[in-house]
Amino acid sequence: MLEITAGPSVENGEGDLLVVPVMEELTWGPGAAWVIGQLGDWAEGYLSGQDFTGKRGQMASVPGAGSIPYRQVLFVGLGSEVDTEDLRRAAAKAARSAKPHATVVTTLHAVDLDGAEDAVAFGFSLGQYRYDKYFTSDEGGASTERLVLAGAEDAGTRGATVAAAVGKARDLVNEPAAGKSPTRLAQWAVDELESRGVEVTVWGPDEIAAERLGGLASVAAGSHEPARLVRMHYRPEGARAKLAFVGKGIVFDSGGLSLKPPAGMEEMKSDMSGAAAVFAAMWAIAELGLPVEVIGITPLTENMPGGGASRPGDVFTARNGKTVEVLNTDAEGRLVLADGLSLAVEAEPDLIVDVATLTGACMVALGKKVAGLFASDDDVADSLAGAAAAAGESVWRMPLEKEYRSMLDSVVADMKNIGNRWGGAITAALFLKEFAGDGPWAHLDIAGPARAEKTEHYISKGGTGFGVRTLVALAEAHAGQS
Ligand code: BES
Ligand code: ZN
Ligand code: ZN
Repeated sequence: MLEITAGPSVENGEGDLLVVPVMEELTWGPGAAWVIGQLGDWAEGYLSGQDFTGKRGQMASVPGAGSIPYRQVLFVGLGSEVDTEDLRRAAAKAARSAKPHATVVTTLHAVDLDGAEDAVAFGFSLGQYRYDKYFTSDEGGASTERLVLAGAEDAGTRGATVAAAVGKARDLVNEPAAGKSPTRLAQWAVDELESRGVEVTVWGPDEIAAERLGGLASVAAGSHEPARLVRMHYRPEGARAKLAFVGKGIVFDSGGLSLKPPAGMEEMKSDMSGAAAVFAAMWAIAELGLPVEVIGITPLTENMPGGGASRPGDVFTARNGKTVEVLNTDAEGRLVLADGLSLAVEAEPDLIVDVATLTGACMVALGKKVAGLFASDDDVADSLAGAAAAAGESVWRMPLEKEYRSMLDSVVADMKNIGNRWGGAITAALFLKEFAGDGPWAHLDIAGPARAEKTEHYISKGGTGFGVRTLVALAEAHAGQS
């Protein structure tokens, strides 16, 4: 585990590696001028010889050569106009190349930016993230044990906590489906959250039936693994607002009887990324002790084509009493969210946010790095977009187009669970709207950004933990802390 502390100034510290920032045209950032002064002219000449100019993304290292109490120095280019995201990325890149060094000292946080300590702690922590549970040899090698923020007043605790939460979400998403049955995921919530003062209630199949969660029961019907509905409640004293988060928790999406083709199934262990984001956000919010009441709701089940599975054409009644004709069992996320949202509405929160890997159509519209944002009104949209921007996650607003609602009309029930070929992310959101009540509500379709195709800066290939940061930033905004 990486330990991050605030430490003495760079002149008075010591360590295996010193990481210092450099801006465009070899403009020395905090600490870098001192290093160059101590090392002598050869160091500057060496950097120039490597074509290192301080451009964003560049890195170069030189030996401490006995003239400073650091064995190596890593110069990190930040470019000309540095923002928080640049800093997170630079810290993550530094972390990747710092791995063999046990103690790393840095001045990256000393650039003139609000929240720089948090950005560095966040980026460095996630730059070290690796999902190695199932490797039998230690391919990753050693990793940094201590990061010292030279001359800092705070150790970036908030950034480190959020990074730890994102890491937890990634672990859950990267875990193979066989290792994260609804039962085990619910137990995760009990183990990780109760000790942090979050009440956790777990419903199994009997309660799911008794509580009339028809959507969750309908999806779970084809699986041998019993479903769970996890309800988490964090209620600190002096809470300034009450939020409800709902996360799609399909631990594996085979498509059910409307079976997916093999290639479409390969990554469907990550169809619980919304639930993972809600779990991890609850963890971070409790850990940070934010003064906001938060209710988390995660319907958890597999979507399998077993003998008991729902058939295309079947009708169920959801928690809020509305009936749904299931024409495509692969449009299952909206069915479990229907019940999750209905439960959230009953809690009468100030705002409901659901997070879901809901549609391939959203990926077609926005690509792999941007989540679709749907909101009940402009204020909600602004508040979500603001939280996402502050957190460094990319979202783009999409319309809840009333004209398209008729695509969900059914001849046998209140609605069917699919629209036609076009606008699939929108019809999915319109379906959810039927269960989200009349109050403030936002829906994040994270089908794209929940997974990354390649490792870059603080992102690693596989589960990304997308959504955790936005939910935590939203809670902070409602706590008056941003
Ligand atoms: N879990 C999928 C959506 C998805 C697809 C997430 C690809 C991540 C990557 C969802 O349950 C699904 O299968 N949606 C269908 C809906 C359709 C049947 C209306 C889709 O998007 O094709
Ligand atoms: Zn599906
Ligand atoms: Zn799905």
